[in-house]
Formats: sequence, structure tokens, C-alpha cells
Amino acid sequence: MLVENHVALQRLNTFGIAARAHRLARVRSEAELQALIRHPDWRADEVFVLGGGSNIVLTGDLRALVLKVEVAGRRLLQETDKGWLVEAGAGEPWHGFVAWTLAQGWPGLENLALIPGTVGASPVQNIGAYGVELQDRFHGLDAIDLETGEPFSLNAAQCGFGYRDSVFKHARAGAHGFGLAGRALITRVRFWLPKPWQPVLGYLDLERKMAETGSHAPSAQQVFDWICDIRRAKLPDPAVIGNAGSFFKNPTVTPEQCADIIGRDPKVVHYPMPDGSIKLAAGWLIDACGWKGKTVGHAGVYEKQALVLVNRGDAEHPCTGGEVMTLAKAIQTSVYERFGIRLEPEPVVV
Ligand code: EPU
Repeated sequence: MLVENHVALQRLNTFGIAARAHRLARVRSEAELQALIRHPDWRADEVFVLGGGSNIVLTGDLRALVLKVEVAGRRLLQETDKGWLVEAGAGEPWHGFVAWTLAQGWPGLENLALIPGTVGASPVQNIGAYGVELQDRFHGLDAIDLETGEPFSLNAAQCGFGYRDSVFKHARAGAHGFGLAGRALITRVRFWLPKPWQPVLGYLDLERKMAETGSHAPSAQQVFDWICDIRRAKLPDPAVIGNAGSFFKNPTVTPEQCADIIGRDPKVVHYPMPDGSIKLAAGWLIDACGWKGKTVGHAGVYEKQALVLVNRGDAEHPCTGGEVMTLAKAIQTSVYERFGIRLEPEPVVV
């Protein structure tokens, strides 16, 4: 496998932050990776796995060997009267994969249209949008142990999915006891798309689309088109304005904390969760603190959705990871001072 030196990462992260990888290897197959792991110079603890670069903030050059996952391929493994089992290589662009499944007549992923990134990254943060999370359609995945080179497979329970969370985000001795951060490279992911297909339409933005169009029994393709419209209207296209999607997770509070906030800010957007806790819209909290559309250095808060931080530089003078984190900390401080809530960043900061 070819290891490239001093590779510019600006085009390999959707924020468009200029940083370099001292060494980068493109992983196209399990065998290529295993050959690399068997090399005497291999150090599993000095490796950084890069997918579509859509959920990272680079705060400097990467000294670790960057493994750029480029495993390709998509196929139907099985069709029964209960559903379709579909598999994709980890390097496949997520949105292209979603569009392909629909074109084949296998609906189920349409609510997750237009999410940037790769198939391999999708289980890491359990991507979710408009009422569907990856874990609702996930069947299993294949990965390679970066210490031993051994292949292994995980089912949904073994992935430990949570809200924008999985076993791949936790260190080995982390709070969850068992973590695979930095330990595994996902090579293939399998999805179970159940029959009969049922649209997921409970989200306010989708209800609005149904009311506007008068279409109350939309096809999967129709839902896909609506989701694309909704996202394009409020989320910046990373090809035009660098960003990493939602920058903070939506925080969870107790009903007492929520009542306290409602007492002071009756308009706070909140959703009761099945476990009795209350989820607050981080975008609303940030917006309420007056951050929408603000710029600090070359980093800014997107004017149509305060939860998204954007690159306000240009190709020659892009924002730095430091500027993004300075802005993020200023936002965290003002949300904490006004609401007593600590916002947790969603992307991985490296
Ligand atoms: N809001 C504001 N001001 C803002 C932004 C939002 O008042 O500047 C309010 C909205 O009016 C709405 C509420 O906050 O009432 C929630 O906003 P929205 O529906 O846009 O969803 P979100 O909670 O901000 C989450 C996900 C998105 C996903 C959407 C749709 C997280 C961290 N983000 O955003 O995921 O697309 O729901 O399901 O959970 C991502 O993770 O990168 C991402 C884009």
C-alpha cells in the first residue's frame, strides 16, 4: 500500500481547515490494511482513521499515520418477505448509498438523505435525522482490529448505540467500560430495510411538507426529495461553506431544570424523552444567546441554523481549528451563563 507524505487535508475535511498529515495511507481493502499492520514499523496507537472528514475539527497537523478509508462496493445480500439486507463498503459516500438503495427499490434510509460523510463513519456517531437513527436500520458491520489485524464483526447490541454515540467513540477504559476508539477500522456496514416499508413522518418539518403538498401518503422517493429540500434550506452545503454539521449535541435536562428554564424563557424548544428526561434544542439556546450569524476570526455561526459552525475564511485564508474552538468555547460560556447548561461538542476534535 502506498503511504503518502505531507498530505494536505484541506479537501479531506468538510470544514475545509488547512492541516497536513505527516503520513497518509489509502485503505481500499481488508488485505491492504492487514499487510500494513504486519509491517514492522506499525504502531496501532499512532493511527488516525479518516472517513469522509465530515465530523472532525483539525486543530493542527496530524502526526499519526492517517488511514483514509476507501473500501468501495454496494450489494444486496438477501431479500426475504420481511425485508432487504444491503451491504456497503465503508468508503462509499453516505448520500450516494442512500440514493442508490432507493433507485433499486429498497426504501428505508430516505430520512437520512444528504448527511455528509461515508458509510463507514455512519455507525461511529449513530447518525440521525428527521425521526430515524442509523441504529433503526443497522444490521451489522465488519471491522479490522488495528492491533492484531484480525477481522471481526459486530451486531447492533455490540455497537452500544446511543444518541450520536457508539462504542467507537469511547476509549477502552472509558465510562462505558468497553470502548473501541482508535482500536478498530470499520470496513463494511450492513443495513436491514424492513418490509412493508412505512414512512417516518412524525417530524414537524415533514408534517409541513405534507400540508403544503396535500400528499399524506408519500412514496419513499417523495420523502427523500422533501428531506433534501428541508436540509438544503437550513444546512450549509459543505462544498460551498465549510462546516461539520451540528456542532453541539442537543443537551438533556431533568424536568425540574426544564421547568426552571421555561419559567425564565417560556419559548425554549424542548422534547420529552421516553426515559422521563427532557431534550432541549441546542440551536435554540445558542440562537437565544444572540450568536446566529456572528463571526469571530474566520469562524462563524451559520445564519440559518445556530447549531452549525462554519468556515468564514476562503480557500487561501481558511479558518483554523483554533478559531473554531475559540468560537465554540465562547458559545459554551454564554449558554452556560444564561441557562446553566454545558453544551457538548459533537464532532471529534483532533
Ligand atoms: N432552532 C432555533 N434557532 C436555531 C436553530 C434551531 O430556534 O438557530 C430551533 C428550531 O426552530 C427547532 C429546534 O430548534 O424548533 C430544533 O431545530 P432542528 O429541527 O433544525 O433540529 P436540531 O435539533 O437543531 C437535529 C440534529 C440534526 C438533524 C436535525 C433533524 C443534533 C445535534 N442535530 O438538529 O443533525 O439533521 O435534528 O433531525 O441532534 C448533525 O448531526 O450534523 C445534524 C445536522
